[in-house]
Amino acid sequence: MDVSLIGVPTDVGASVVGCRLGPGALRLAGIQEALERFGADVKDCGDVSGPVNPMAPPVDGYRHLPEVIKWNEALFDAVYGEVSVGRMPIMLGGDHCLAIGSVSAVARYCREQGRPMRLLWFDAHADYNTASITPSGNMHGMPVAVLTGHGPQELVELSGEVPALAPHHVREIGLRDVDLGEKRLLHEQQIEVFDMRYLDEVGVREAMRMALDDLEPDTHLHVSLDLDFLDDTIAPGVGTPVRGGPTYREAHLCMEMIADTGRLGSLDIVELNPALDVKSETAHLAVDLVESLFGKSTLLRVHQR
Ligand code: ARG
Ligand code: MN
Ligand code: MN
Ligand code: MN
Repeated sequence: MDVSLIGVPTDVGASVVGCRLGPGALRLAGIQEALERFGADVKDCGDVSGPVNPMAPPVDGYRHLPEVIKWNEALFDAVYGEVSVGRMPIMLGGDHCLAIGSVSAVARYCREQGRPMRLLWFDAHADYNTASITPSGNMHGMPVAVLTGHGPQELVELSGEVPALAPHHVREIGLRDVDLGEKRLLHEQQIEVFDMRYLDEVGVREAMRMALDDLEPDTHLHVSLDLDFLDDTIAPGVGTPVRGGPTYREAHLCMEMIADTGRLGSLDIVELNPALDVKSETAHLAVDLVESLFGKSTLLRVHQR
């Protein structure tokens, strides 16, 4: 397994600043060493660079649109370069707007390879806003809408085809704070959502079984892990925390079930805000979850033999 770490120190997509410090905190928490323990060949590509955060108000429904475009163009190139030589890119975020660039690059690669792709979006939020319905103008609240064809042209067209990803290739998991306009649009676009109510009622195991059903042998799974997916009591280091998320074990089960598919192809770790974290516990939790994503649950393996 060849893995490429790509730091994306941006917070231009958020209004709470601080996740520009995320890549360093994930490195300090030992992400490279953790991956190496699984036998991965890890290359740290360093940080992608982009414009500073102008801390400006939204213009026509978008905050920092030119900056968000620049960051995502740079990230697109970095990610495309790594996947196309057969490596697994892991994005060290950075705010969630960076998924526009990472997922667009992976989508382009999969299209060229004729491989199916599925996006697993773990988040308290739907990130399905557009300029006309956003309550904040923050572009980290828009990436899934952009990737499925709704948003500014420069971003919607980044993968070379519109939409970068058809709505039926997306699964959103853990939602519990969705804006009114987003709800309508999600429904209209028929995005498959496993919200917290659903997880409560059917359980994490069954929801994940459904999110992972019908995979082709060559499906590329892209996991986009917004750390505010987790319950705010175990992950305080995020800019937009929401109560009532998955527990430590529930989150690990999600990652373990993905590991079992053997189809993980790329990963975003986003929204870590070290300035709000408590003794780096959110950064360490993120690294723990990555270990599960790479198959740390070895007891299950022994049992299955
Ligand atoms: N729905 C809210 C908004 O659009 C919050 C989005 C939070 N997104 C995130 N990636 N943390 O402003
Ligand atoms: Mn979120
Ligand atoms: Mn299809
Ligand atoms: Mn998000």
